[in-house]
Amino acid sequence: MRQDTKMPTEAKEFAIGNASPAFGDLAHPGAAVSIRGLRHFYGSLETIEGFDMECPPHRVLGLVGPSGCGKTTLLETICGLQEPAAGNVEVGGALDPRGRLARCAFMPQRDMLLPWLSALDNSALALRNRGTGRKKARKEAGQLFERFGLAGFERALPAELSGGMRQRVAFLRTLVSGKPVLALDEPFASLDAITRSEMQAWLAGALATDPRTVLLVTHDVEEALYLSDEVAVLSARPLRVVDKMSAPTPRAPDRDAAVTDPSFVAVRERATTSLRGAAG
Ligand SMILES: Nc1ncnc2c1ncn2[C@@H]1O[C@H](COP(=O)(O)OP(=O)(O)OP(=O)(O)O)[C@@H](O)[C@H]1O
Ligand SMILES: [Mg+2]
Repeated sequence: MRQDTKMPTEAKEFAIGNASPAFGDLAHPGAAVSIRGLRHFYGSLETIEGFDMECPPHRVLGLVGPSGCGKTTLLETICGLQEPAAGNVEVGGALDPRGRLARCAFMPQRDMLLPWLSALDNSALALRNRGTGRKKARKEAGQLFERFGLAGFERALPAELSGGMRQRVAFLRTLVSGKPVLALDEPFASLDAITRSEMQAWLAGALATDPRTVLLVTHDVEEALYLSDEVAVLSARPLRVVDKMSAPTPRAPDRDAAVTDPSFVAVRERATTSLRGAAG
């Protein structure tokens, strides 16, 4: 049973909207993430064992690992939502949980849209939580609806949106927080294969236009390699890095061409082999 989490995920979603000063480049904020010797436990259950990682500003780091290995716990710890038992976690120069929380926008595994709020009000939530007035927050978030393929759906309730649209609203909410680090926890896990590919291509475009430091957790090696600059393959619990690789560059602008390129296929095979070994 999940008993040790300090805040329910819904509360975390609200908490992460707070206190978001601008960091670095105002238009495209980014911050370095640096982790040394991280350990984490839930009671006596060891989830993370001596984890080291570096992610420079404006880079995308993919984190691929077997089910239950501790990926969500890792992201929550980086974002200041879990206490490490040992080690240092530094985000944009901040070592304390509050400072990390102020720099990280966490997009949880489930989209966590509030069912009684429209798509526009859901996407404006992070701004509202920063103290922005309703009208201004709706205007700022609303300006991105067209680019996010959501124009015309501003008033729709989450139940009236497709899975891909819900994910886009959740991502929009994460992005408009203005925070330099986006921690995305399996953003497309709930989508069918075709929508998932479309969303991957869409996210690659969104990040090219609006670069941030991104920590992307996924089960899917191809997704990680397509969207990331670097990919770390994680072990089964307790989590540690078993392999690390740079994603092949430059990538073809077309997703299907990019993932069938021989250099991409070779790295994907290596990552898949490492992941199989990690899953045991
Ligand atoms: N709040 C909690 N209290 C106790 N144990 C927990 C808690 N949250 C997670 N766990 C356990 O910690 C381990 C890691 O969980 P976590 O959710 O971080 O893994 P994950 O890699 O994100 O899993 P998934 O692939 O299913 O998303 C699992 O064994 C899980 O059962
Ligand atoms: Mg998880």
